[in-house]
Amino acid sequence: MIVPPTAPLAPRLAAALAARGDLIADLAAEATDAYRVFHGSGEGLPGLTVDRYGDLLLVQSFHTPLEEAQLAELETFYASTLPGLTPIYNDRSRANSRIANELAGDALAQAELQREFSELGVRYAVQARHAGQDPWLFLDLRAGRRRVMAEAAGKSVLNLFAYTCGVGIAAAKAGARFVVNVDFAESALKVGKHNARLNDLPIRPRFVQSDAFAAMRQLAGIGQPEVVRGKRLPAFPRLEAQQFDLVFLDPPRYAKSLFGVVDIVNDYAALMKPALLCTAPGGTLICCNNAAQVPREAWADQLERCARKAGRPIREFEWLAPEADFPSPDGQPPLKMALLRV
Ligand SMILES: C[S@@+](CC[C@H](N)C(=O)[O-])C[C@H]1O[C@@H](n2cnc3c(N)ncnc32)[C@H](O)[C@@H]1O
Repeated sequence: MIVPPTAPLAPRLAAALAARGDLIADLAAEATDAYRVFHGSGEGLPGLTVDRYGDLLLVQSFHTPLEEAQLAELETFYASTLPGLTPIYNDRSRANSRIANELAGDALAQAELQREFSELGVRYAVQARHAGQDPWLFLDLRAGRRRVMAEAAGKSVLNLFAYTCGVGIAAAKAGARFVVNVDFAESALKVGKHNARLNDLPIRPRFVQSDAFAAMRQLAGIGQPEVVRGKRLPAFPRLEAQQFDLVFLDPPRYAKSLFGVVDIVNDYAALMKPALLCTAPGGTLICCNNAAQVPREAWADQLERCARKAGRPIREFEWLAPEADFPSPDGQPPLKMALLRV
């Protein structure tokens, strides 16, 4: 049931917190103090999310802003049920999910304070307000990071569209032999490097600031031309051809660069094919797709077809589901993760 935006929030928040009792205890036992406390779309208030990152309680609205009284009600509720956390509200209901509500004084200082939290024994940095919009770790991807940690020991790992490198840091912490993180955003990689320093890692992960297409084509041995259709492309870092035991592919929904178009709704194969060719024979490719409008089964068919056409048929296919703090009553979570043995 969907509750009208003006209805009291506390009963919904209380039901969501009660449903997480066992999960929160289990996570605490695994050195995890970051989880989604309220997942609006699955819990009756679409567009409202509340995430805990250590001592930060990050409240975000994506459809309509919270009224002042609603925010006060929410803060009162969590002050008594999860005491000691600092709530910060980011209203992202305007165009492009930009944070629209201004903060000042102590509230702004708290929002810009860099904090730390743990997930599965790995330390990460978080800041409620920074130059970008999204939090520095996506919590629904915990299931993916958990699986990577279970698989990584002794392996070479390629983390594509790495953002703040959560997957790569988790892999290194879990004993990967070699980790390469690729993203074109310097600011995201900077957070990744900081995350690496926060952990006592047995290896030094690599951070490659590059367009993912250019990196994949070189690693796969296809090569990245410098000139395409008479146009010289921007400079890109040179990489030796190399295949990896474990490749993690988690692209954004849409992004266009001179090297290629990322479009996970209409052309996942354009990404999957080079990623497959970066995966060693007998290795593992984990593909993610966060577009809610892409149905699971249709996407699975695309993955199968693409792998067959690339001459790397899927030997085993396993779905990884977001954990219980991301309930999806219709069984169709927007984030789809497929682990493929290829
Ligand atoms: C959805 S985030 C990836 C999340 C990440 N896998 C994680 O574990 O949190 C998308 C990332 O893709 C990066 N990106 C988008 N287009 C890119 C491209 N063509 N090449 C390299 N990075 C790209 C963005 O900078 C951003 O950090």
